[in-house]
Amino acid sequence: MYQRIRLGSAGAKGSADAVVVAVFDGDRKLPRGYGALDRSLGGAVSDALKRAEVSLEAGALNAVPIKEGAKGASVGARVFVLGLGDRERFTDQVLRVGAAKVSKAAWAARAGRIRIEVTGGLDGATGAAEAGQAIGDGLAIGNFEFDRFRGAGTKPGGDGDSKPRALVVRGEVAVRKGLSLGLKVGESVALARELAATPPNVANPGYLVSECRKMARQTGLKCRVIDKKKAEQLGMRGLLAVGAAGSRPPALIELEHKPAGAKGRPIMLVGKAVTFDTGGYSMKSPAGMDGMKYDKCGGMAVIGAMHAIARLGLAMHVIGLVPTAENMVDQTAYRPGDILKMYNGVTVEVTNTDAEGRLILADALAYGCKRYQPRAVIDLATLTGGVVVALGSQCAGVFCEDGALRERLYRAADRTGELLWRLPLWREHKELLKGTHSDIVNSGGREAHPIQGAAFLSYFLDAKDAAGLPRVPWAHIDIAGVADVKDGHALYAKGPTGFGVRLLVDAVAKWSKRG
Ligand code: BES
Ligand code: MN
Ligand code: ZN
Repeated sequence: MYQRIRLGSAGAKGSADAVVVAVFDGDRKLPRGYGALDRSLGGAVSDALKRAEVSLEAGALNAVPIKEGAKGASVGARVFVLGLGDRERFTDQVLRVGAAKVSKAAWAARAGRIRIEVTGGLDGATGAAEAGQAIGDGLAIGNFEFDRFRGAGTKPGGDGDSKPRALVVRGEVAVRKGLSLGLKVGESVALARELAATPPNVANPGYLVSECRKMARQTGLKCRVIDKKKAEQLGMRGLLAVGAAGSRPPALIELEHKPAGAKGRPIMLVGKAVTFDTGGYSMKSPAGMDGMKYDKCGGMAVIGAMHAIARLGLAMHVIGLVPTAENMVDQTAYRPGDILKMYNGVTVEVTNTDAEGRLILADALAYGCKRYQPRAVIDLATLTGGVVVALGSQCAGVFCEDGALRERLYRAADRTGELLWRLPLWREHKELLKGTHSDIVNSGGREAHPIQGAAFLSYFLDAKDAAGLPRVPWAHIDIAGVADVKDGHALYAKGPTGFGVRLLVDAVAKWSKRG
């Protein structure tokens, strides 16, 4: 795939190796806005619309022939018609899915320059900025490939032949800003996916620490690391217990974006990064362990989001916390029955060593709240199998009892296509975790267990309201169902999605603009 995808210069109307033209399904007449374009392509688009095999279903990408010697042949050796589906059912996701196919088709054709024409066919169904951003998202998503571990067993002559290459994308003036933003954030999404895909024998907690240090140097973020020794001094018994038997010691990575002039308290993002989850002594079955390298995806989303927030220079103070540990077994491992005194003094009896994510998040949340006094907290974690059963891979589960924060997140979800569905968190749910010889247990059984995860975390945020829930606006997003996908997903290749990067960046960006 392409090494880079970048926006071409504004004025350059000139030549492109491929032109993409977006059209709604319907009467199959050439949209009015495309008259001149169609003529310049020798009527290729209007001809294509007459042919039944050209599908205009949402996200369908059709390569259509262009007549030899057509007047404007210089502008496009290839023409693609992108179906937008029914106008009534259109969402920006259609453009993301279509654009993801465009980057693959462009690569297959070894195109170096493409032009994307959408506004003439969109008929106002979405704004130009939104359209541009969705296309940028999709191009970046479709271009992702994780080939770092391909070796002698993969036959050569695949993509290796003509790397590195850049794809230059041209678009109408109205969509340029969005396109540029989508492509830029797309690089951060790719970083999150790259780290997520890196296998657990490489991507251990120590590896994540050094990758974060490197990334911080490149972007101007501040990176501090609470290592094992420091965690012992601070009393982070949750983080230490989970990481005790890991091949490398656990750590809490802190990334800080503090632009000059940013006022007020920071936003705090927290992400679970269990580099591999065996379940510990409450061990997972072999099938249950499959894909557990993705148990670091909440943390990778936070790393990707901080990367983008820094590179975009968002005018907002943002803290990213990534607790990282490897949940393994040996004689130093924590046991079911252990009682841990956490950073904030709450005691936890470990009833299940497989409910480890909440233990490392708990110390990070309590520490972060105390140290940074954030104005809002958002955590992301592949926390429970229950949320996969309940919601599948179309949306993440969100727990947020603060209406204003919830609305911000819903709007960001709507704009980015990283969808959220609300689950409840009430005082009653906290009862499920009451301990016998400790304050609480880390797992109260199967009943409502995604909610138990959220209820557990609520003990580690600052001052509580009358219902015993945190006063600081807080959202817990359980991404266990969306962090990675199987074969056959409309938008993503099999593997990690980077879910959360675009959502968080969008939410923070809008926040920094409107306060
Ligand atoms: N990492 C898992 C959750 C998970 C499961 C993520 C499947 C992705 C796919 C988490 O640490 C876990 O093991 N959760 C337990 C909690 C239970 C012991 C209360 C679960 O979901 O079964
Ligand atoms: Mn687990
Ligand atoms: Zn886990």
